[in-house]
Amino acid sequence: MCGIVGYIGKEQAASIILDGLSKLEYRGYDSAGMAIFDGEKLRTKKAIGRLKVLENITRGGETLPGCSGIGHTRWATHGAPSDKNAHPHTNAAGTIAVVHNGIIENYISLKKKMADKGYSFVSETDTEVLAHLLDYYYKGNPLETIIRVLQRVEGSYALGILFADHPGEIYAARKDSPLIVGQSALGCFIASDVPAILKYTRTVYYMDNQEIAVLRGENISFYSMDEEEVAKESATVDWDADAAEKAGYEHFMLKEMYEQPRTLEDTLSPRILDKDGEKDIVIEELNMTAEELRAVRKIHIVACGSAYHAGVTGKYVLEELARIPVEVDLASEFRYRNPLLEEGCMVIVISQSGETADTLAALRESKAKGFRVLGIVNVVGSSIAREADACLYTWAGPEIAVATTKAYSAQLAAVYLLAMKFARVRGILADRDFAALLADLKCLPDQIELLLGQKQKIQRFANRYLGARDIFFIGRGIDYAISLEGSLKLKEISYIHSEAYAAGEMKHGTISLIEDGTLVVAVSTQPALYQKMISNIVEVKARGAFVMAVTNEENREMQKVSDYCVYIPETHPCFTNSLAIIPLQLFAYYVAVGRGCDVDKPKNLAKSVTVE
Ligand code: M6R
Repeated sequence: MCGIVGYIGKEQAASIILDGLSKLEYRGYDSAGMAIFDGEKLRTKKAIGRLKVLENITRGGETLPGCSGIGHTRWATHGAPSDKNAHPHTNAAGTIAVVHNGIIENYISLKKKMADKGYSFVSETDTEVLAHLLDYYYKGNPLETIIRVLQRVEGSYALGILFADHPGEIYAARKDSPLIVGQSALGCFIASDVPAILKYTRTVYYMDNQEIAVLRGENISFYSMDEEEVAKESATVDWDADAAEKAGYEHFMLKEMYEQPRTLEDTLSPRILDKDGEKDIVIEELNMTAEELRAVRKIHIVACGSAYHAGVTGKYVLEELARIPVEVDLASEFRYRNPLLEEGCMVIVISQSGETADTLAALRESKAKGFRVLGIVNVVGSSIAREADACLYTWAGPEIAVATTKAYSAQLAAVYLLAMKFARVRGILADRDFAALLADLKCLPDQIELLLGQKQKIQRFANRYLGARDIFFIGRGIDYAISLEGSLKLKEISYIHSEAYAAGEMKHGTISLIEDGTLVVAVSTQPALYQKMISNIVEVKARGAFVMAVTNEENREMQKVSDYCVYIPETHPCFTNSLAIIPLQLFAYYVAVGRGCDVDKPKNLAKSVTVE
């Protein structure tokens, strides 16, 4: 939700900021802007539309010379996308400029107070109130002023601030919205996410909540809200800069789908012990003894979107393999439903970004109630990773496309590992069964590779459905979990209406929507449920549906009842989601491409949802 980049150093700031923003466009892309100090004053340029528009009107930054500046790419919350609502926002004199990611929750009352003092507002944003508050309190000391303003503000923020009379400095602050600070021989940077500055540096500082940073060309100081200087350790980012580039693929989403075999390998192999006859799952990050693991009586999984879908799969797999009761909640529901967390329960939050506001709030709520929280997180150093009691990283690397693919697959891998670990310590799996599961787990990367090889076949099929009005996804048990994800993938990038249903539930209402030619994607990977699925397929076919089945190679009977079959290789029934998702991702991707949609940046969405 909004991307921030700031730079101060020896180089021209505007081109560095534009380049950084281009790596953050996945966070928001309805307008963009920059404020640059030109040696005398702050000059601001903003434009509605994609970053390209800003690049064009500033000729790639050339028309805004200067070596310090801040920039922003917006995902509208308060006020529609427009030039006026784009950031940076300034005070009336144009001497203070602010970029903001987050929400100022008490902005209405603050705005009224500032209006009563004679301040006039040019935008509908919550952010503009900050520029005027800074102006109101400013007596020449930026740090003191920022602290005073932030003490009056409720909500979340990552901020970049410039004061024209302090040209050698950039100020930054954060609370509940991500912000990192980078350092290199060229100068210092602020950014919402690592890819924005990876080209220039790998040395970063992860800002903590309610911390303020002052960047002065070559040195950086951090302060608490009490104006005390804080000592911070830098971290080194170990990604390859290419990881955040398209590398010849038409879209990030396609590239990221193709990275799934490696992602699984990276997430699984460091945690699998299979040597000298010894077989185990080793998750050191859990920081729990076998006894503590055995004492877990219930698991609550909390997440949003696709991460929630990985959690739904987790419920089936953990209950099946480890026989632990699991509840799965959408984080936005969990945090307000006063959940009953009984003794012996463990909370698992799943998040690619590690910054999703609702998931973070659920984590804090659980910790406040005294429960242990495990985070399954992709972004190293993110808020959830740092605030969870333990963090199991999914080693998917940077995921840029808004629609998640490889991070989701890595989340599935993480829940398999946990389920097997719990099953092992609880003595539920016999050695032989454990060994068989381990063998299947290790085969997943190659099997995914194989399925990716079917892309042309899926593309041809997808091209027949470019004009579809509704597409349904049905499945039972674990296949229902994958239907949820397949349906979300399709609707978020192709804008075709789609719903996922537990197959047995269709006839309780939704089947009335099936018409001649409606596409129903039926996922059937659970041998124990083949016959039940066949009945459900026959039911929708009787109402005119065209059925695409995703099923196991052995299930040849499916060919007789469905119109089009995609087969997945053999694996344990608990792991089939990792394979069945591949044709569904490819299908969604090619439908979206065929419809001319902006696959990597679907309308109205942002990669990291840092607002409620
Ligand atoms: O970063 P997170 O995993 O916490 O994000 C959760 C959802 O916002 C995310 O999975 C979203 O649903 C994706 N657009 C799905 O492709």
